[in-house]
Amino acid sequence: MIFLEKTFLMIKPDGVGKKLVGEVLGRIERRGLVIEEMKLMRLDKEMAEEHYAQHRDQPFFDDLINYVISGAVVAMVVSGKNAVSVIRKMIGATNPFEAEPGTIRGDFALDVSENIVHGSDSAESAKREILLFFGE
Ligand code: RTP
Ligand code: MG
Repeated sequence: MIFLEKTFLMIKPDGVGKKLVGEVLGRIERRGLVIEEMKLMRLDKEMAEEHYAQHRDQPFFDDLINYVISGAVVAMVVSGKNAVSVIRKMIGATNPFEAEPGTIRGDFALDVSENIVHGSDSAESAKREILLFFGE
């Protein structure tokens, strides 16, 4: 089944710091997906904890929150055919050691805690995250 859907993508502080904003946007556009909304912003602790609420009990949670509030991020809504799963495939595996070359993490990351981008893991997560960041 093909779904025309929206997903949420965020370039994390290391992606912005490594000057990879243009690279990530270029990949999204060249794939044929559409950037519907976008903003450069800094997350506060409360918003970061809300965004990553599913990981609240994980041992890496505090490090994850401190990292994601450590610098500017670029938050966006991306739409297209099967946008949720297409973006997840373009991002690659969570652990960059396992991310295939050609994926964003496989090409630009070597650290599980600093892995360049976040992408919604399901249509339900996308809806929740778009509401949190863009109020829609
Ligand atoms: P994201 O939510 O950021 O797109 O990443 P993901 O779906 O690929 O991975 P997820 O399981 O949701 O984990 C969220 C973020 O937490 C950090 N993490 N650290 N130290 C660790 O073992 C560990 N595991 C996950 C990563 O920054 C991951 O992106
Ligand atoms: Mg995730």
